[in-house]
Amino acid sequence: MRGVVLISGSGSNLQVIIDQATDIGLDISCVISNNSDAYGLTRADKAGIPCHVVDHTQFDSRETFDQAVSKTIDQYSPNIIILAGFMRIFTEAFAQQYCGKMLNIHPSLLPKFQGLKTHQRVIDAGESEHGVSIHFVTAELDGGPIIAQSRVSVLPGDNAKSLAERVLIEEHKLFPKVIHWFTQGRLKLENNHAVLDGKPL
Ligand code: GRF
Repeated sequence: MRGVVLISGSGSNLQVIIDQATDIGLDISCVISNNSDAYGLTRADKAGIPCHVVDHTQFDSRETFDQAVSKTIDQYSPNIIILAGFMRIFTEAFAQQYCGKMLNIHPSLLPKFQGLKTHQRVIDAGESEHGVSIHFVTAELDGGPIIAQSRVSVLPGDNAKSLAERVLIEEHKLFPKVIHWFTQGRLKLENNHAVLDGKPL
């Protein structure tokens, strides 16, 4: 199955997807970044995957930026769009255009801690548990139907960095697994619910 991966930063999730692409039935057509300095672009380049930078600072509105991203995506006619640490908020039109085939990874146990700086906010809130969620993207920020989550304990003495590292280990296990469900045709979005093997998640 053809996929496009969108990133903004380090691309460690992209790396595990690249490393497991064959096993999970994914052919990565290209990587798109809004940030030309993203280390993920180097990772893609090393793997021989075409890269595109669509720099959001060069656009005067969210609409025109989204149109440029969408034009780049559509050149490849992908079956799946994977947001792997892509730090821009899309317009409703963009989310609707790829509804049912766009997945996002978010470092919290959604619906808790939507948005940014989740690890610090979890510590500040005195939570005993944290984790990662993978969800279908809808117009609502970090609010689309949840597909899967992994949990980690918040340990005494944790700081945002130590917690982020532990969550990232779970991200790297969970994302390829969920992408594989999708490429196998087992995972779908139906009536705004994530459905696996015909059963609502
Ligand atoms: C991950 O924590 C992801 O959940 C969040 O941004 C981070 C990206 O990490 N949205 P990487 O670029 O995959 O290393």
